[in-house]
Amino acid sequence: MILQGKNVVLGVTGGIAIYKAVDLCSKLVQAGANVDVIMTEAATHFVTPLPFQTLTKRPVSVDMFQLLRDTEMAHISLSKKADVLVIAPATANTIAKLALGLADNLLTSTALASRAPLVIAPAMDADMWAHPATQQNVQLLRSRGAVFVGPARGRLASGRMGQGRLAPIEDILGAIRQTLGSKGPLAGVRVLVTAGGTQEPLDPVRHIGNRSSGKMGYALAEAARDMGAQVILVSAPTCLAPVFGVEMLHVRTAAEMHRAVMERLSQVDVLIMAAAVADYRPKHAAVQKIKKGAKGLVLELERTEDILGAVAKARPSLGKPRVVVGFAAETEDLLKNAREKMHRKKVDLLVANDVSAPDSGFGVETNRVVLLAPGKKEEALPLLPKFEVAERVLSKVAALLEAE
Ligand SMILES: Cc1cc2nc3c(=O)[nH]c(=O)nc-3n(C[C@H](O)[C@H](O)[C@H](O)COP(=O)(O)O)c2cc1C
Repeated sequence: MILQGKNVVLGVTGGIAIYKAVDLCSKLVQAGANVDVIMTEAATHFVTPLPFQTLTKRPVSVDMFQLLRDTEMAHISLSKKADVLVIAPATANTIAKLALGLADNLLTSTALASRAPLVIAPAMDADMWAHPATQQNVQLLRSRGAVFVGPARGRLASGRMGQGRLAPIEDILGAIRQTLGSKGPLAGVRVLVTAGGTQEPLDPVRHIGNRSSGKMGYALAEAARDMGAQVILVSAPTCLAPVFGVEMLHVRTAAEMHRAVMERLSQVDVLIMAAAVADYRPKHAAVQKIKKGAKGLVLELERTEDILGAVAKARPSLGKPRVVVGFAAETEDLLKNAREKMHRKKVDLLVANDVSAPDSGFGVETNRVVLLAPGKKEEALPLLPKFEVAERVLSKVAALLEAE
């Protein structure tokens, strides 16, 4: 996980969304980051430093002129050790000061002294956000490389609807992870991941589907983003939230997924087919809802598009993708079937998972997989969280790209 051992300076300013910063702080600590919190004086009117200090197990800095235990100046030491400076929530006032280069409190002084990447999550009243002064300040900070996440639309503290809510914490974490990983082993690499189980309509209200949750594919998209890749996620319907920093394409059927993948094939360096694509679809989807009858119902099915087969055919002339990764979900003869699929589909890496085990495969948080590559020794990974499986797969992809 990219946040493990990273030094995150979390600046907290005086906005009503501050209570959400406590959750952000907790999640950063849980992800293994060393978090130093700086609060503005206004922020301390909303919450005390206590929750941040308790969660980080470190003193919270507020006062620039506080006598220090050692002789190091807080704004200099924090600015130099930071791998990333995050300001969440960021008030209109602090954004304006950052744009001007003011250094009138510990947070703005630290920001001015730091060369670490800056992630800003604004939260304010919709009119404050829309004001030309704020918009110009945001543009100026963006042009200097600051990463803005949010604000989101929705109900504001005033009771009005509008743009000004703090971005979801998952998105702020996504922006921090993407920023930290931007120079990672997949920097500049374009990766397309497919995820989820396709749905083949029977009638307007029913479909043939499968039990894929999409978790493996979404984990791959997140992990690729954290390693610096530009990611497109072609997703069949899932219950999962969109992945921050990833271009999302929503599809439903195997035919739609086939079209989405083939249209983008020449633009991507890596294709990872983690979706569970239907092999068959109803030959005729009924226009109206099928009525219950006294007798049984016979359905005629036809083959769907073979996406990996089509990719294998198109690859030699396109010269893209440089690396193709397939997944094989099997309930019997795992390795025999996986080896056969690897050769038939001409993939560079095949991830074989036994979906019959209760702790591996569809719907669960963990996976037990074997990695197969032509001419290479098979590698059986232990039971791992899907995100760690994703990281291992992508490390192999990075090695394959390098070996080209
Ligand atoms: C109850 C209350 C809620 C506020 N909420 C916000 C807010 O959500 N966003 C914002 O930009 N300012 C908000 N303000 C105004 C800021 O607190 C004010 O501009 C302050 O000077 C910000 O200081 P700081 O940027 O140093 O933290 C609020 C003020 C009050 C009294």
